[in-house]
Amino acid sequence: METGERQAFKDTVIGMFDRAATLYGQVGIQQFTYFGNWLVEQLHVPAGAQALDVATGRGAILFALAEKVGTGGQVLGIDLASTMVAETAAEIARRGLTQAEVRVMDGDAVSFPPESFDLITCGFALHFLDYTRTLPKLRLMLRPEGVFAAITPFVPRDENLERWQWLFKLTRDVFPEGFVPPAAWIAPNKISTPELIGAALTDAGFKDVYTESHTTTLYFKDESDWWDWEWSQGSRFWLEGMSPEGLERFKRESFGHLREMQTADGIPSTMGVVLARGEKH
Ligand SMILES: C[S@@+](CC[C@H](N)C(=O)[O-])C[C@H]1O[C@@H](n2cnc3c(N)ncnc32)[C@H](O)[C@@H]1O
Repeated sequence: METGERQAFKDTVIGMFDRAATLYGQVGIQQFTYFGNWLVEQLHVPAGAQALDVATGRGAILFALAEKVGTGGQVLGIDLASTMVAETAAEIARRGLTQAEVRVMDGDAVSFPPESFDLITCGFALHFLDYTRTLPKLRLMLRPEGVFAAITPFVPRDENLERWQWLFKLTRDVFPEGFVPPAAWIAPNKISTPELIGAALTDAGFKDVYTESHTTTLYFKDESDWWDWEWSQGSRFWLEGMSPEGLERFKRESFGHLREMQTADGIPSTMGVVLARGEKH
């Protein structure tokens, strides 16, 4: 991407996350908390460790790390969306955590002295970064034997995809024929397989690169729970891009499908992540 194009991409991404920040991770199925906790469990983080969480959002990974490193460690979260950072700072204060801190910072322009951290994480955000340039810089900020770990989303190809097929079709149908979504809206597709994310880490110089996929089924309470969640994260790009009539149709028809999908446990949604982990030798 050219510099101007890259800036426009960033402005689109950050603008959307600033508008979503109050709801982000707080409504609906809360998959960020689930996968953030899962990631941190896989990493066996020692007490006293110093960690950096890039694109921390509302701190799904940051809070899980803060618990592991304890008061003798330190976790710094950075994010370019200032409303995300303000909300997360308020939550850190509310929980009284002395070992966690957040700052507004561009993940691509991150600059800490070499060997500052034992662990660097990035959840659901590598696709927003210029990662071919940024990953080697992050590697330098790790201590020897330090670990970098990222999770990126993928849509499992299973019966769940069949269940939600109507959503992909309906989303396409409310946009004019031939509509091409902006790069920011479809960025998660960029690095959504173990091969792609593993290669990104290997190319950045990480050793012992390991990838693993993990899926889980989470449940929306009802169609309103799903609607709030749609506005709280990446799908908001699409909702904001619809015409008023398109949005009205999208909501009405979605609610019809969702009522048919309701079970005693709620409305099921199966989600997946690819975890990639590499070490600095
Ligand atoms: C899908 S959210 C993930 C948040 C968090 N890691 C989680 O797992 O819930 C993506 C986050 O990336 C942030 N982001 C996007 N581009 C960024 C950049 N260039 N530098 C720092 N943060 C960025 C957004 O503001 C948003 O908070």
